Order: sequence, then structure tokens, then C-alpha cells
Amino acid sequence: MTKRQTRLFFFISTGLFVLVFLGLTVDTTKQVASLTHSDTITPQVKAGDHVWHKYNCINCHTLLGEGAYYAPDLTKIAKQRGAAYLTQFLKDPSRFYSEERDRRLMPTLGLSNQEISDVIAFLGWVSNIDNQGWPPRPILVSGSAAPQPVGERPVAASTDPVALGEALFRSSPPGCSGCHSIAPDVRIVGPSLANMKQLAEEALKSPKYGGEAKDVEAYIRESIVNPSIYIVPGPTYSAGGMSLMPDDFGKTLTDKQINDLVAYLMSLE
Ligand code: HEC
Ligand code: HEC
Repeated sequence: MTKRQTRLFFFISTGLFVLVFLGLTVDTTKQVASLTHSDTITPQVKAGDHVWHKYNCINCHTLLGEGAYYAPDLTKIAKQRGAAYLTQFLKDPSRFYSEERDRRLMPTLGLSNQEISDVIAFLGWVSNIDNQGWPPRPILVSGSAAPQPVGERPVAASTDPVALGEALFRSSPPGCSGCHSIAPDVRIVGPSLANMKQLAEEALKSPKYGGEAKDVEAYIRESIVNPSIYIVPGPTYSAGGMSLMPDDFGKTLTDKQINDLVAYLMSLE
């Protein structure tokens, strides 16, 4: 190459890459509004953003990987836990965790009821941001299922309902395994579902049971679709007579998915 060719090569390729860079930047900026669903930023979401900053949640938590690494990433927390649980948790986190067991604690911050519902609205909006799998490895909430990359779920290599149910149980959404362990006596947000059959039989015999199920299978189905009909006794499982388990699985899951989950839970001994 002559000097002139080298110079030309330098200017042309630098120019080319500057153009590509600018093009990609403009393209990304254009997509921000739709990826973040900016049309769903209501006044309450904004108020929740203020609450988030007022109480310095970011000093302990991350959102989209930004923040401090003391406490779990909360990008998808609204989907993993649901509003009923989050409301109770934010009122008094110490009810849900013990320092001895968890080795770290979330302080009781004294949020007002309004601030709690605002910050939940904010976290709900954040959970709907299409973050394209970012951050790749968020710090998990205690016991939470490993996050699945966007659009990927563990695929059971069979059509066996038990295997499909297990794969779904471990997927997020619906995030069952983020709240339920299948190891005996391990309580996460909800009770352990080891011995599911036995648990169901006990519930069916309980004088407090007011549901419609006559057998174990029907009981499990009812627990998934309508969790508040019978509430498992436990100090942190319910508030005001309502289960802290999300109550919309009847709508967000198909009948087939619910059947698979029931088949899987029936198989636990
Ligand atoms: C001093 C640090 C600290 C601050 C400040 C803090 N948190 Fe936490 N938070 C924690 C820790 C630690 C945990 C995890 C408890 C565990 O898993 O053992 C946690 C857990 C959570 C959880 C998950 C509960 C669960 O069971 O999955 C939510 C939701 C949450 N915090 C919301 C907030 C919000 C909203 C704020 C601000 C209003 C906030 N936190 C401020 C330390 C903090
Ligand atoms: C946000 C946490 C949370 C998530 C997510 C969750 N659960 Fe629960 N679940 C609970 C709590 C709390 C209870 C206890 C209160 C009650 O009886 O509803 C419970 C109770 C149950 C029971 C009744 C157990 C018994 O002994 O009678 C079953 C069955 C169950 N869940 C299945 C599931 C399945 C399947 C999924 C996923 C589709 C799921 N849960 C997702 C919190 C959760």
C-alpha cells in the first residue's frame, strides 16, 4: 500500500464505522419507547419512581442490573411475587425473613400505604420492560427459580404431563418454584409442596375447608386457580383472609398447563 492508499483506507473505514455506529444508536433510541412501553407510565408509576428514590432502594437493590448488590435484583419482582405479597412484605419485611436464617435483612422503611401501592405500580411497570435478557444473571430473590432467557423455557423431552408440569413449575412465568420448594419443610413465600397429596388430604378433612373439591386432584386444581378458598395455616401466607399467592393463574395459564401442573404435584410423594 502507498501512503495515499493507507490514508484513504483509514478515512473510508473510519467513516463507514461512524455511520454504522450512528445508525445503530438512532435505531436503539427509536426503540426505547416501545421496549419500555412508555405509554403505560401513569402518574402513579411516576410517584412510585419518587418513592424508589426517596427511600434509596437502589442503595441495596438493582433494577435492570443498575444499583447495589446487597439485595436481590427487583427487575421482575412484580411478576414473581404479585401485588398481594409485595404489599404485606413492604409493610413489614421482618415478618418474612429472619436475620439468623437469611443472614441479611431488609429494614422496615415505614412506607405509607399510598407509597407502597405507588412503588408496586412502579415495579409493575419495570417488570414489563422488554429488557432482552438483561441483566444476564440477576441476583435472585431467595429461593427463586433460575431466570429463563427471553422466549426460552426448559422443554420437556416428552409429552408426559408430569414432565411437562415439572418444567412449567420451574419456569418463570409462572414462577411456582420461586415461591414453593418441593423439599420437605422448606418455606419460601409459600409452603413446601413435598407430600402434596398428604397436604391435600389434611386440608379436605379440615373443618375450615370451604371449597368444592371432593378429591385430592380437584383440591390441587382449586388451590392453583382460586388460592383464597382455603388458606394453608401459616403466619405469612395470607392477609385479611386473602392468600398471598397470585390469584390469576386461572387466566394466565391454559387448561392444559394447569392439568400438567396438577399431574406433577400429584406425583410428589
Ligand atoms: C438496607 C438495604 C435495603 C434497602 C434500603 C431496601 N431493601 Fe429491599 N431487600 C433487602 C434485602 C437484604 C432483601 C432480601 C431479603 C432476603 O432475601 O433474605 C430485600 C428484599 C426485597 C424484596 C423481595 C422480597 C421477596 O420476598 O422476594 C422487595 C420487593 C424489596 N426488597 C423492595 C424494596 C423497596 C421497594 C425498597 C425501597 C422502598 C427497598 N427494598 C429497600 C434490603 C434492602
Ligand atoms: C408469590 C408467591 C407464590 C407463587 C408465585 C405461587 N404460590 Fe402457591 N402458594 C403461595 C402461598 C403463600 C400459599 C399458601 C396460602 C394458600 O393456601 O393459598 C400457596 C399455596 C399453594 C398450594 C396449596 C398448598 C396446600 O398445602 O394446600 C398449592 C397447590 C400451590 N400453592 C401451587 C402453586 C403453583 C402450581 C404455582 C405456580 C403456578 C404457585 N403455587 C405459585 C404462594 C405462591
